[in-house]
Amino acid sequence: MPGPLIGITGATGHIGRLVATRLAGTGARLRLLARDPSRLPTLNAPVQVARTSYEDTAEARAALAGVEVLFMVSAAESADRLAQHTGFLDAAAAAGVRHVVYTSFLGAAPQATFTLARDHWVTEEHLRSLGLAWTVLRDSFYLDFLPDLADPDGAIRGPAGTGRVGAVARADVARVAAAVLSAPESHAGAVHDLTGPQALTLAEVAETITRVTGRSTTYVDETIEEAYASRAVYHAADWQVDAWVSTYTAIAKGELASPAATVQRIGGQPPLSLAELLRSRS
Ligand SMILES: NC(=O)c1ccc[n+]([C@@H]2O[C@H](COP(=O)([O-])OP(=O)(O)OC[C@H]3O[C@@H](n4cnc5c(N)ncnc54)[C@H](OP(=O)(O)O)[C@@H]3O)[C@@H](O)[C@H]2O)c1
Repeated sequence: MPGPLIGITGATGHIGRLVATRLAGTGARLRLLARDPSRLPTLNAPVQVARTSYEDTAEARAALAGVEVLFMVSAAESADRLAQHTGFLDAAAAAGVRHVVYTSFLGAAPQATFTLARDHWVTEEHLRSLGLAWTVLRDSFYLDFLPDLADPDGAIRGPAGTGRVGAVARADVARVAAAVLSAPESHAGAVHDLTGPQALTLAEVAETITRVTGRSTTYVDETIEEAYASRAVYHAADWQVDAWVSTYTAIAKGELASPAATVQRIGGQPPLSLAELLRSRS
């Protein structure tokens, strides 16, 4: 008896590609959904491919026909991301998908300090309202992304104070997602918090990057006013700047500080630390 057809979004990006690569060749039946299928990775097993964006709900419904279990990677940040998410979930329900696994954000809640975590909460609630089986993976900030916080002068600037963040490697998120997709019924109705093994201050993050990569990196604590002022040069929309600044204030408030044991429990391996991740890249 073949397993369910698993739809995977975001496979032209990091997480979706890692998940698709893990599942390909395991016997899982896969359909990769992409805005531009020509950019999909080549996998070591045949897979189905369908073209869709989240926002074109008619196209999405057609692309999802026959998919039983859907891995939905959250969309790129945009002013209408929430509408993209809810529209795509509606299309999934209309297409007959029976279980959605969604990548949310740690601490998703209506009053979360990180503004985008509020949108993830609304997406989660929408998913829960549809009557499908669901699983939510609440990823912390990606460890992979921490070095990118540094300016060209090597300074990570923001109002995080001495707050701690238990960031998680994309590879660990993908390992857990692949395990969940391989036995979705065991994870129906579950919210899984995905973090790394330790919660670090941004000063410790900077020290680790310097020590492991040799790239001199420092942490410069800003006030909230200084954070808005230092980002004004980008002339970005208010929602975008709020998201950038609240990345740091969420850390300052300790909302990302509690490491969870989920990666080890579901993924079967201890999560990567920042130092291990940086060493693996060099
Ligand atoms: N936790 C964190 O620290 C953190 C940091 C950054 C982002 N994120 C969120 O986590 C998600 C996954 O991370 P990642 O590293 O895999 O991101 P990524 O490499 O940027 O990949 C995002 C994937 O989503 C697809 N996508 C984006 N918007 C879409 C839309 N409207 N319709 C259809 N497909 C769409 C992209 O397709 P294209 O290739 O066509 O663009 C790409 O395949 C991101 O999309 C973002 O929502 C989390």
